[in-house]
Amino acid sequence: MPQPRAAVILAAGQGTRMRSSTPKVLHEVAGRAMLAWSVALARSCGADKIVVVVGKDARAVSDAATQLGCEVAVQDPPLGTGHAVLAAKSALAGFDGHAVVLFADTPLIRPDTVERAFAALDDGAGVAVLGFEPADPGSYGRLVRGSDGVVERIVEAKDANEAELAIGLCNSGVLGASATVLFELLAEVKNDNAKGEYYLTDVVGLAHGRGLRTRAVLAPADEVLGVNSRTDLAAAEASYQARTRAEVLERGVTLRAPETVFFSHDTVIEPDAVIEPHVVFGLGATIEGGAVVHAFSHIAGAVVRKGASVGPYTRLRPGADVGEGAKVGNFVELKKTRLGKGAKVSHLTYLGDAEVGDGANIGAGTITCNYDGYSKHKTIIGPGAFIGSDTALVAPVTVGAGAVIGAGSVITKDVPADALAVVRGKQRHIDGWAITFRRKNGDEA
Ligand code: UD1
Ligand code: CA
Repeated sequence: MPQPRAAVILAAGQGTRMRSSTPKVLHEVAGRAMLAWSVALARSCGADKIVVVVGKDARAVSDAATQLGCEVAVQDPPLGTGHAVLAAKSALAGFDGHAVVLFADTPLIRPDTVERAFAALDDGAGVAVLGFEPADPGSYGRLVRGSDGVVERIVEAKDANEAELAIGLCNSGVLGASATVLFELLAEVKNDNAKGEYYLTDVVGLAHGRGLRTRAVLAPADEVLGVNSRTDLAAAEASYQARTRAEVLERGVTLRAPETVFFSHDTVIEPDAVIEPHVVFGLGATIEGGAVVHAFSHIAGAVVRKGASVGPYTRLRPGADVGEGAKVGNFVELKKTRLGKGAKVSHLTYLGDAEVGDGANIGAGTITCNYDGYSKHKTIIGPGAFIGSDTALVAPVTVGAGAVIGAGSVITKDVPADALAVVRGKQRHIDGWAITFRRKNGDEA
């Protein structure tokens, strides 16, 4: 029977192997803190109540947890994973349903996988553990099964004998049970082991001893990678990127060199977009169908609409909106700038805090002077306007529809629609001046 769901997320460990002044669980994978990954995981499995267990003085972690809409429980001092879950007991008082324990340093688990653990509980299992078979079982806890295949207990590597160490099925750390049973079992856990800690994993043996059904749910090994060091963090990032590239290709996006394209957790790329090599998507990028992102572009907080073309070497910063069929070329940076349909900004340009109408053409080297050292100001360019090369638009300023700006102009006043604005010294010629100059310097004419 489906039951209400809760999650306890363990984040009280020190994470000393990261060698960082930032708490381990706030380090990011694909632009999202590992803690936020586990909270999102819990939520997508339908856990309404989420308790994050933090260490004392872990202000940054508890603030992050609160911001993510979770309750916070403090474990002080940290005496093991079982002890950590017990710290969440009062936060879960009155909760009647299934609780799953997640580790905040395991960012790659897919919702489907945890869903299967919850489903095992709904199906009558007393305790469900997410197991996996890593290439190298190393220091992971081992799931010890009886002759009938039932998981009888988990033994930590440090406490295991040789036969137990030879077991390939390992503990991912994810474990679920009814909240009532979980806390009852945890109350019986002792710390008479190699580490002198209260192990969460001991609840499996205790449940089996009580005649409760224990179930192992198998997880893909690449999902349960635990991050303990910068090397692990890089491995988690690489794994996320590899997985995402495969998914993006599967959805009908062309990636010419998938291994050189990097995504954030929230990148949206619609089918039939084409992404050339060496493109980086920061947070909040959307590429619509039929758009092309040429090589070496960096896109964050921006949308590239249908049929538009961006790059090579384009930088789109937050608030950039490249309209349908518009074209943004090399060495162009857009920030908080909307380009209308079919507008062109082909070379060497910075547009910030600007609105560019449909079909406008922005010449090479155009710059919006949007910042006066104190505030940002807006530039509005009407549809069909033509901005000559090397124009400086000193904001706030408006260029009317269909207006033309002569190259090299510094525009400080609004330009009426369909007018020509030229702001530069008049060109004059002094006949023969160069000959005189050369002679004066000792050359022949
Ligand atoms: C744990 C499991 C092991 C499993 C492995 C998977 C136990 C006893 N062992 O070992 O079976 O194979 O994870 O990665 O559970 N934490 C606290 N408070 C504590 C101790 C830990 O909140 O007192 C948190 C840590 O921040 C971390 C998680 O619990 O998020 C796991 O702790 P860690 O010490 O890394 O466990 P492992 O030794 O890796
Ligand atoms: Ca760990």
